[in-house]
Amino acid sequence: MRIVIGVGAGIAAYKVCDLVRRLSESGHEIRVIPTPESVRFVGTATWEALSGHPVSTSPWDDVPSVPHVRIGQQADLIVVAPATADLLARSAAGLAPDLLGNVLLTARCPVLFAPAMHTEMWLHPATVANVATLRARGAIVLEPASGRLTGSDSGPGRLPEPAELAAVVARVLARGGLPPDLAGRRVVVSAGGTREEIDPVRFIGNWSSGRQGYAVAAAAAARGADVTLVAANTALPDPAGVRVVRVTSAADLREAMLPLAQAADAVVMAAAVADYRPAVRSAAKLKKTGGAPAPISLAENPDILRELAGPLRRPGQVIVGFGAETSDLLANGAAKLAAKGCDLLVVNQVGDGLAFGTADNAAEILAADGERVSVPRGPKENLADVIWDLIAVRLT
Ligand code: C5P
Repeated sequence: MRIVIGVGAGIAAYKVCDLVRRLSESGHEIRVIPTPESVRFVGTATWEALSGHPVSTSPWDDVPSVPHVRIGQQADLIVVAPATADLLARSAAGLAPDLLGNVLLTARCPVLFAPAMHTEMWLHPATVANVATLRARGAIVLEPASGRLTGSDSGPGRLPEPAELAAVVARVLARGGLPPDLAGRRVVVSAGGTREEIDPVRFIGNWSSGRQGYAVAAAAAARGADVTLVAANTALPDPAGVRVVRVTSAADLREAMLPLAQAADAVVMAAAVADYRPAVRSAAKLKKTGGAPAPISLAENPDILRELAGPLRRPGQVIVGFGAETSDLLANGAAKLAAKGCDLLVVNQVGDGLAFGTADNAAEILAADGERVSVPRGPKENLADVIWDLIAVRLT
């Protein structure tokens, strides 16, 4: 595939060298177009050596080949990384002061922006508005990663790691040129399994690894959505381009989900949420008494999915639940779909090494409007894309 890498003037340009190397090694043909200011960080010789092509920042070089039109028209994907606040602003306004700006205007392929900047710049209302404009126009704008920035400060603004970015690029290309159908949509996904504390050292939990929910979140990001992932007790790396909120108990998950869901077009509840919690959390570690063990009395947790699909539902929202079942998938799934009031219910068989922690999953997806889709065993990423296909048609 022909991939154009547009490089903005941010220190994270150094990470993009590794991205270019990874993408060329995967067999893609890479053209790097740096902005004139960005070559202060990484020079054109580096990009020429890594891509194997001449590199220019200006539409006035090699004029007879009309590079500003040709490169954009021939590209299968444009990746802008790091996308600085200034470059996002220029792209949102359609300005073309350099070769990259021209190419962005002539290209009709998917465009993926990977922003990187200081947190203040990312959260500035101007940047927020520019990102919204680009997304509304169909661009994929990834959420920056959170963590240490150039100075001693930290927060959202880091460029995701090159391996993670390469994974997003692979997912976008795997869609075979289909437009990013979730661009401009805001979605919330829960993943993992809640833990309900008995005392400071013990909890009631479950075997959910979070892999299916992470795959759902990553798939939405590659399709252009603004994604928040609410992760309960997972040990997985943050997927690139996704905002991650960490929680522990069902109560924490509910507190995080409710306001996020209010602003979301779609909600996918992939987390395994405990139905019950210990009625009392002991402040001190419980001791063995020698006699009969003390029973743990339980209190019921609120059903978050039922609340989101019922009283808290926003008009036009699509709400998706998961059902982990050990038998009678279709009967149990139909009953759960009705009880929860959601639009789609993804039922999968669990236990005996199935679903929990594995790379593969199989599922029956039941819709409130009667549609039913069987997804055969395959990578969790595939199931994630089928779920988004079914959500996308219900959003329009
Ligand atoms: O009833 P069951 O726990 O099997 O339902 C599973 C679905 O309901 C999942 O989507 C899960 O995230 C959600 N759920 C919830 N709140 C609970 C229990 C389950 O949102 N207290």
